[in-house]
Amino acid sequence: MKQQIAVYPGSFDPITNGHLDILMRGLELFDKVICSVAYNIEKKALFSVEERMDLIKKSVNNSDHVLVDSFEGLLVDYVKKVNARFVIRGLRAMSDFEYEFQMASMNRNLNKDMDTIFMMTGKDFFFISSRTIKEVAAFGGCVKGFVPEVVEKRLREKFSIK
Ligand code: PNS
Repeated sequence: MKQQIAVYPGSFDPITNGHLDILMRGLELFDKVICSVAYNIEKKALFSVEERMDLIKKSVNNSDHVLVDSFEGLLVDYVKKVNARFVIRGLRAMSDFEYEFQMASMNRNLNKDMDTIFMMTGKDFFFISSRTIKEVAAFGGCVKGFVPEVVEKRLREKFSIK
């Protein structure tokens, strides 16, 4: 039987427990989820793409059902390249909706065979974003419970916090 593959794309700078929640729930719908880090020219990243991939791999305990990858260029081209049809995105609030709606609509116009599946962020993760995590960590705040332990440790190292 054909395996159903979905792509979960994002900046993941760094991966949070909110991302992990979406990823794990995605695995209940698909045989394999490719978690793919985008080379985003517009965003200045804290972690390199390789560091981000490493943090994702460690956060999912090298699960056989999660493939960690990266991509450059258009998402639609990447989705075609890996023979997937579905893209998973998490939705936190109305503020996410406009951006996500625009992106999903553009992607669908570029490739009619591709579909975006939105999953509501788990109730414990609505307020979490990579941006706020970095801000809290940069000022020495505690991000325990918001990110995987390996990410928490790496953030402390990045910001030289004991
Ligand atoms: O985690 P993010 O930063 O919200 O992820 C956004 C991402 C990487 C999924 C999006 O910017 C993307 O798909 N970039 C690749 C370029 C592209 O295909 N853009 C969509 C056309 S609007």
